[in-house]
Amino acid sequence: MRAFQTILVTGGAGFIGNHLVRHLVKRYPEVQIVNLDKLTYAGNLENLRDIESSANYTFVKACITDEEAIKGIFSQYKPDAIIHLAAESHVDRSIHSPLEFVMTNTVGTVNLLNQARLLWGDDFDNKLFYQVSTDEVFGSLGPSGFFNEDTPYDPRSPYSASKASADHLVSAYRHTFGLPTVISNCSNNYGPYQFPEKLIPLVLNNIRNEKPLPVYGDGSNVRDWLYVVDHVLAIDLIAHQGALGETYNVGGHNEHRNLELVEIMCDLMDERLGNDVGTSRNLIEFVRDRPGHDHRYAIDPAKIEHDLGWTPTININEGLSLTIDWYLENNLWLENVTSGAYKSYYAQMYNVVEK
Ligand code: NAD
Ligand code: TYD
Repeated sequence: MRAFQTILVTGGAGFIGNHLVRHLVKRYPEVQIVNLDKLTYAGNLENLRDIESSANYTFVKACITDEEAIKGIFSQYKPDAIIHLAAESHVDRSIHSPLEFVMTNTVGTVNLLNQARLLWGDDFDNKLFYQVSTDEVFGSLGPSGFFNEDTPYDPRSPYSASKASADHLVSAYRHTFGLPTVISNCSNNYGPYQFPEKLIPLVLNNIRNEKPLPVYGDGSNVRDWLYVVDHVLAIDLIAHQGALGETYNVGGHNEHRNLELVEIMCDLMDERLGNDVGTSRNLIEFVRDRPGHDHRYAIDPAKIEHDLGWTPTININEGLSLTIDWYLENNLWLENVTSGAYKSYYAQMYNVVEK
């Protein structure tokens, strides 16, 4: 069991990051939690309003690719653990701007690895560089089988390729320089505070606004969904107890075809909003498929279950209910994030004619 004095979380103002920062600040009041984030379109400090004045919390605005800035922040705060989440995370954006993804996800990770080496020297006692990665690095599955820790990397989108190369560099720094590293590869997360460009919040937001629900291709692609808090609990366990140099797959056996998931959300929203049965399903529109759209992701979580005793605590029915209730109660948050810039991106991406 590792113990830390200062944990630096990158990307803590993003979707998963804000849940992680909140969890760490509350669970470890004796540990300083430093949130380093550039505040891109996906970073929102409003997400952390409830804990921003906690004595053990500090926010620092910086870009992970900025060598001087990261050196300064590391020498000021001297983190003994770095939990690295900062990334460009949306596959569709990566198809439009691959270079931005390589810069942040790959080059930014190398910059953090270099600065960790510089700060720690040869003293790796109770030190950790934790790379939070995705199952998308494994590529695409057919109708059967699961990704496990031995599945070869086979990334197929600029997003997953930039994350895969970052993961390889983290492993290379472990082998070459002895850096104390760990990597986890998680399936699709959902829950409160997710930016409404990803499937679940996009569908909920569009139902509320009676806008079309864009389903790519024929909606048969399969994703394995995990409630964000269960990912955060896995990250906490891996950070404190994961074996150095190891990788852990995180997922909860919650596979759904996209169309099936959208229909479930439509029906739950109709119930909540008092609509006639089928009202929201009428908004479903099949749109042009994503180029290179991975067919199926599915995680075998046996290793983290067996080695660290992790299991998901929230099933998909509970998780979707919690998520839907949160989005319905947080209209102001949604309005604040769906800015003008987001709308023009949206129109460009989907080419959807507004009803
Ligand atoms: P997100 O897009 O919601 O948040 C990313 C955060 O990183 C934002 O706060 C953004 O401001 C920050 N950021 C972006 N570029 C930066 C830079 N150059 N310097 C500093 N900060 C920067 O992403 P998320 O969904 O919370 O994902 C977090 C991490 O978890 C990512 O590394 C992602 O690959 C991984 N992951 C996500 C999922 C998922 O389903 N969302 C699943 C598995 C793994
Ligand atoms: P997304 O939330 O973007 O996550 P990822 O691509 O990283 O898995 O998409 C989840 C699935 O939903 C994916 O198969 C693409 C599909 N999708 C749609 O059908 N319509 C949409 O508007 C979006 C954003 C995604």
